[in-house]
Amino acid sequence: MKKVLCVCLGNICRSPAAEGILRASAEKRKIPILVDSAGTGGWHVGRPPDARMVQAASRRGYDLTTQRARQVALSDFYEFDYVLAMDESNLADLQDMAPPNSETALHLFLAFSEVTQRETPDPYYGGASGFEHVLDLVEQGAAGFLDFLEDR
Ligand code: 4NP
Repeated sequence: MKKVLCVCLGNICRSPAAEGILRASAEKRKIPILVDSAGTGGWHVGRPPDARMVQAASRRGYDLTTQRARQVALSDFYEFDYVLAMDESNLADLQDMAPPNSETALHLFLAFSEVTQRETPDPYYGGASGFEHVLDLVEQGAAGFLDFLEDR
């Protein structure tokens, strides 16, 4: 079973959405994967996802309420087959952190989808439309990643 870690900055907006949507989509398609998420930063460790993201995701049928934020750990680079970054800055931070003997594949979350943009923008300081935009992108990114896994 492939293990996938979704990573953003705070682990309270984008990567919790990615975790919840990827898990639900994989279950629906009967693709056996283990999904987790983490943040490169530690400010929100132990907290549930941002209430705005929990509500926006819930309206689309995804339950993020049981998730709690955690920070990326060195062991993640041995534990997970894929570590998927939500934006270029997260990816650069992960590349800096990755131990040289890690075999984890580091990619942008949207790299597997047809979406033309590469980054999932941080919605934290913006309005409600930013959260909907993240969910639109993440739904497409999750579908693209699962297509990729199925084709392998
Ligand atoms: P996320 O959003 O990386 O999608 O979880 C953020 C959440 C919190 C902060 C930044 C981004 N923050 O600076 O506290």
